[in-house]
Amino acid sequence: MSANKIWQGNTTFILAAAGSAVGLGNIWKFPYMVGSNGGSAFVFIYLICIFAIGFPVMVSEILIGKYGRKSPINSLKKLSVEFNLSSYWKYLGILGAFAGVIILSYYSVFAGMAFSYIFNVFPSGLENPSQYSTNYFTNFSSSPFDLIFWHSLFIILTSLIVGFGVVKGIGRSVNVLMPFLFLFIILVSIYSSFVGDFLSTIYFLFKPDFSVITPQIVISAMGQAFFSLSIGMGAIMAYGAYMPEKQMIGKTVITIIFLDTFVALSAGLAIFPIVFSNPFLAINAGPGLIFETLPVAFYSLPLGSFFSIIFFILISIAALSSSISLLEPFTAWMEEKEKFKRPVLVAVLGISIWFLGLGSIFSFNIWSDLRLFGFNFLELMDYLTNNIMLPLGGLFVAVLVGWLVPEKFLEKNLNLSKYKFKAFYFFLRFVAPVSITLVFLYLVF
Ligand code: PFF
Repeated sequence: MSANKIWQGNTTFILAAAGSAVGLGNIWKFPYMVGSNGGSAFVFIYLICIFAIGFPVMVSEILIGKYGRKSPINSLKKLSVEFNLSSYWKYLGILGAFAGVIILSYYSVFAGMAFSYIFNVFPSGLENPSQYSTNYFTNFSSSPFDLIFWHSLFIILTSLIVGFGVVKGIGRSVNVLMPFLFLFIILVSIYSSFVGDFLSTIYFLFKPDFSVITPQIVISAMGQAFFSLSIGMGAIMAYGAYMPEKQMIGKTVITIIFLDTFVALSAGLAIFPIVFSNPFLAINAGPGLIFETLPVAFYSLPLGSFFSIIFFILISIAALSSSISLLEPFTAWMEEKEKFKRPVLVAVLGISIWFLGLGSIFSFNIWSDLRLFGFNFLELMDYLTNNIMLPLGGLFVAVLVGWLVPEKFLEKNLNLSKYKFKAFYFFLRFVAPVSITLVFLYLVF
């Protein structure tokens, strides 16, 4: 790989990886999953998954990418040649590249909605803002044309950034976008905590209540942990290829995980105090939580429309820095075939993803009655990727790096102290694969 494909300095990698991890998963999905899955019980399992599974899997993915210096598929190929492993390991990368494309197809629909909500300033003097908001969301989501417009815009922006390439496109944009994102989320959560019901939020998020834990909560929390950290599909592996040689993987992963968890919890602190202080709003509103309810809450508060605009800008920025990492593994793989230039490949991919996204858009309107295995199209895409493809990818990564790659190689490349390495290795070999397998067994039987 040429030097112009390595990010300069340690911060670009951290910002890019944190940019990938922090996204709709933290700000839109985490709060509604917590709200619909018993509050603190979900948070508790989620945090365990982040540290026990997320940490070792993310370290392994970056290690593979940094070692291979290629797209996930070709880095996996290189690794299997080096250690005399089956050539089938490249299919792990292919599974991931497709997972990224499928996720992006529906991710873009919600990101587009967030974009459009930047401009959704409520008219003043409304008698019934909740009704206005519900009507607005219903009208908006029942109109395929509106959704298609915003979905298209989001796919175009994502493709433009990825089309410009790794250093100019992704590297530069995250350096500008991410600091804004952290600033905004801190601002909005402080604001909400002051004007809303902070105490109920703290109880809801952190007061332990293990009695409500169900297998379903465990499955959802694990899927959410994979989704939120961008692991199990090669996004972080693809970025690992651009990591400076001297940068330490372990420390970097701790920073990324900390930032991701910080933003998810801050999003909880930004949203729940407002929901709890407003009798019209329900914590278990589901995917519509932020769209249907937050503008109402902001409306009734001082400086509300200003903060509402900021909030949706924040979500759009977070979504964009994640979506580029969803597109990168497939793009990098195709680029290595050297048949077409990056911009051409990105254009073709972008158009295909746009088409696939139509299925998710129609789930809100013309296909709302269509059911496949009990799910509508959007739910099926979400379930297939979050609860099956990503955990499966994570399981294979843990088996590959934990059991088939020699321990010496890991020790040399990770540079951890003896005690830290032992802990990491134990979690990678046993805790992560066993817990993912148990969840799969539960799903199957
Ligand atoms: N982690 C992103 C989020 O929380 O919104 C979503 C995501 C990005 C998932 C990249 C998977 C991925 F590879």
